[in-house]
Formats: sequence, structure tokens, C-alpha cells
Amino acid sequence: MCGIVGIIGASPVAPRLIEGLKRLEYRGYDSAGLATLDGGTIQRRRAKGKIAALEERLREEPIQGTTGIGHTRWATHGMPNEANAHPHANENVAVVHNGIIENFHELREDLLAKGHVFTSDTDTEVVVHLISQEIAEGTNDPIEATRRALGRLEGAFALGILLLDRPDVLIAARQGSPLALGHGDGEMFLGSDALALAPMTQRITYLEDGDWAVLTKEGATIRDLSGQTVSRPEQLSSLSGAMIGKGGHRHFMAKEIFEQPQVIGDTLSAMFNPTARTITLPDLPFDPATVPRITMIACGTASLAGMVGKYWLERHAGIPVDWDLASEFRYREPVMTEGGLAVFISQSGETADTLAALRYCKQQGQYCLGIVNAPESTIAREAHAVLPTLAGPEIGVASTKAFTTQLVVLACLTIALGKARGALDHETEARLSGALTEVPSRAAEVLNHDERIRAIAEETFVPARDVLYLGRGTSYPLALEGALKLKEISYIHAEGYAAGEMKHGPIALIDEHVPVVVIAPSDDLFEKTASNVQEVVARGGKAVVFADDAGVGRLKDLALETIALPAVDPFVAPILYAIPVQLLAYHTAVAKGTDVDQPRNLAKAVTVE
Ligand code: AGP
Repeated sequence: MCGIVGIIGASPVAPRLIEGLKRLEYRGYDSAGLATLDGGTIQRRRAKGKIAALEERLREEPIQGTTGIGHTRWATHGMPNEANAHPHANENVAVVHNGIIENFHELREDLLAKGHVFTSDTDTEVVVHLISQEIAEGTNDPIEATRRALGRLEGAFALGILLLDRPDVLIAARQGSPLALGHGDGEMFLGSDALALAPMTQRITYLEDGDWAVLTKEGATIRDLSGQTVSRPEQLSSLSGAMIGKGGHRHFMAKEIFEQPQVIGDTLSAMFNPTARTITLPDLPFDPATVPRITMIACGTASLAGMVGKYWLERHAGIPVDWDLASEFRYREPVMTEGGLAVFISQSGETADTLAALRYCKQQGQYCLGIVNAPESTIAREAHAVLPTLAGPEIGVASTKAFTTQLVVLACLTIALGKARGALDHETEARLSGALTEVPSRAAEVLNHDERIRAIAEETFVPARDVLYLGRGTSYPLALEGALKLKEISYIHAEGYAAGEMKHGPIALIDEHVPVVVIAPSDDLFEKTASNVQEVVARGGKAVVFADDAGVGRLKDLALETIALPAVDPFVAPILYAIPVQLLAYHTAVAKGTDVDQPRNLAKAVTVE
């Protein structure tokens, strides 16, 4: 996902634009650039690749100016190269953009016919020429010209705009892609999110869809596209510059894996009353005792947390749960039960497919519940209610602590609904709640296996071309998650499979070259999973088994490697077993030398389809 920063101030902005862009690197990008209004001209510097390349360009050719915009681009239209890097500009206008302008073809044809010359393959460049065209057609006021141009755009966009003839203003616009304003002392800021603004201010105003803003050094006037002034609250971001450091770790992903005992505890304590030992959820807009059906919808890792939630809710709350990938759900025209509950899980709260599914479910009369890590995100604001994960900023593109805290929220939701529906007797409720309270300390114990897992990763996984992950029950979504983690950061092909499905095909893949990760907590399916380990080993496969002491005792002579995790109630096994699976992927990727925090082709939040 692209990143935007902007500053209108009283001192040279280039260094702080770079600093703001560095806070956005986690979103994934393949080029970067900035532009300033400098002595009566628009100055622009851009570079393919990482921000370090842009810094090199600025050392070669510094730019001044106290008003500027910066951008990290994740290529959608046009190759990742300098010509397609933002900002896009002509002599009067410079623009940075996040999103997709869906009518850019017709706009481009119209502008070409009017003599405009395009220098990139991007959709964004049409904004530059459209504003210039509006100015040329007699709208002498560049701000009015900008308003008119914005009204002709269709699709999703967050925009930062410089106007040569109005060096006293910076323009911002939001339609479908998040954008925030930052309030400084005699200066104003613009950023894709509060993280980008954290080094400069904690005073944040989030724009809403359809808003556009005129920023001056003194403040901002926000309007809707009809030109009516609108008011948006200023709030204090909880983010500080320090929160987005690596905390002494080599990568953000490592820091976030090791933060899990803390943030799992933080998320749990927001809902668990330790004295009464009961789960208390905030007021929900539906009746937990009678809601007829749940639909669990998300993407990627978040969808796999939802799959675990499906198993839990059906077993412990006795409620039917449909599960679907948001990208499939939104086009399937699913038939939904009137008055049902739709749950949207999203770390960023901005994933386009998940947001589209939410909007569909609202039309279908569903109660929409968001489980998000960004309380100000679009999904959080459009859902009827939110259960927040308190994971703190997750910078690494591969989701780790967001996943385990999503599971904590889903576990609490399960207990609360199970209790409300009389599906949980008091003893079981106490057992499940008690198991949850054990997780933070057990998670800390699991992290003690870090060195051992690193050694296994380097010896067995780095040389692998294909890897299989197997699990049953709630370990099946975990097998899928393990495979996703490995492939997305180490680029090794990996597949997660229901262990019971092995004999229906994937067993043909197994030979001495294929490591097979088996997730085998001591639950009611352990014996069947143990048989799967036998099948793997009998065909020369290298079984790497995560189990507890009892399970390791049964399998250590059979498997290539066994890692003994703390014995826990099977209910919380998916939360605990996620951690070694994350470490395995992390160490494999580090050993392979990939860009662990910003894997190739990936973005932290996929706000486009
Ligand atoms: C997770 O490791 C991946 N980076 C990706 O699958 C991610 O979970 C997915 O894009 C959903 O993102 P969200 O949680 O922000 O909606």
C-alpha cells in the first residue's frame, strides 16, 4: 500500500518528509519521491527502490522549500521505476496518491486530446493534468480548480496536492483510502496514518470519505465536495515515535513476535475480569443469546484467525458459523440469515476486500462486528461495534502479534456467547477462561525455544524447495497460517493441509526432500495426527513436530525434530502454537536473506483490489 506525507511549515521540509516516509516503509513499496515548492518552482526528486536511494538523490541534488509532499509507491498501474514514482507533476501542480482512479483511462484520453503530455503509465498523473486543465479553462483560483477536478475522479484515492500559485496551502483529499491531518505549532501535516505523523505530532484529525482539506500553517479547513465546510474531531494519537522502533531487535517482525506475551495479556485484560474470572464484552448491538448465525470474513492471516474462531464458536457456543475469504464472499452474492452477525477481522482495518464485504453485509441486514488493531480505521468506523486487538503498531508486513491477539478476542467472544446461550456450563466456562489467563506466561516460555527453532530453520528449511504443514481441528487453520508465514517472507513454496486430507493427494509430494511441519497439541485428535506423522515418515518425509511433552514422548523416535511446548488446554493451543510457527518462518527468511519486514511484492495493508 502506498504511503503519503505532507508538511506545510516554516522550515525546510525535505528531511522531515524523509523521516515520515521511513515510518511508512512497513506498508511495502518499490519507489519513493518528494516534491517541494522552492523559490517559485516545483522541485521534485524521485528514486526507484528504497528510501535510501531517494536520500542519495537528495544528497546529489538537495531541495529546499517549506511546503512539500512525499510518497512511497506500491506499484499498481505502471512498472516500479523513477518515471512512475510519485509525486507526479507539471510546472504548476504536484500530486501524491494512494488508491486507484478507476476512470483514469477516459480522463487520460480527454486530456491527451486537449494537448496534455503524459510522462508516466500511472493513473495518478491524470490528477495533475486535470487540475491544470481546470485552471486553464478559466478557473483562475487553483483551489477551486482542484475542487472541480476532484469531483471528476472515480475510485479510491487519498491525495496530497501542491499548487505553485498557492504556496501558502497544501491540499488533501480522501475517498476510500485513509488520510490524516496532523496539527503542529505554526505548521500542519498530512499522512496516510498516525504512524507517519508520529515523529511530528500526536494531534490527529482523520478525514472521512468525500472530504477535502485546505491546509495552511495555521490550520485546516475541511469541506465536502459540494464545498460545504465540515467538522472533524481532533484527537490525540497514542502512538509515539518510540513505539515504532525495533526495540533492539534486528527486525520489526522479531520485535513483534517477542511482544506477544505482553500484548496477548493486554488484549485479554481488556475483556477478562480476573477477580470474577469472567469475560465481559462491551455492549454489542445484537443479542448474544439469540443471534441466529455468524459469518466470519477476512483476508490472509486474519481469515485464518477467523477459521479458528469458527471451530471455537460452533463447539463452545453452539452457534452455526460460515467462514469465507472476503475476496470471494463479496462477489458470491451469499444468502444471509436475517439478523445474523458478520465478523470482520483486520489488522489494518483498511483491507479493501474486507471493507467491501462489510458494506455488503450491512445491506443484507447483518450486525457487523469489527475485530481490528486500528481503532480509527475505516472498518472500525463503519462496523456497528468493534472489539479491538491491543497489539500496538504492527510494522512487519507479516502479521504475527495481530494474529494471536485476534485469536484472544475470538476466544473471549466464544466464551461470552457460549455463556449467554447457555451452551457453556460454569465449569467449562471457568476452564476456558482459566486456560486463557495462562497464555501470556506460556507464550513467554515458548519464546525460549527461539535458538532451537533457528537451528532447525537453517538446517532443514532453508535448503527446502517445498514444505508441507499439517494439522487437525483448530490446528488446521494454524497449518495454513504456518505455510502462509513461510512463503510470504522466505519465498519458499509451502502448503498447509488438513492432516486428514494427506492421503487424498498431497501424500504424493512427500519424500526425503520435503520437510513436513506437524502441529500436534494433546487434543482429542492427537492420535489421528500421530498416525499422519507415521505416514509421513514411512515415505521418507522429514517430520518436524510441535507438541507438548506427552506428544513429544510419543513421536520423538519417529520424527526428525520434535519441539516440546508447554502443556495447555487444547482450547488455547492455536494461540500458543502460532508462536513457534512464526519463529520458524522468521529464521528461515533471515537465513535466506530476504527482506523480512518488507517482503517482495507485499504491502502491509491491501487497500486496493
Ligand atoms: C499476513 O501475514 C499477511 N501480510 C496478509 O495475509 C494479511 O493478513 C492480510 O492482507 C489481511 O490484512 P488485514 O489484517 O490488515 O486486513
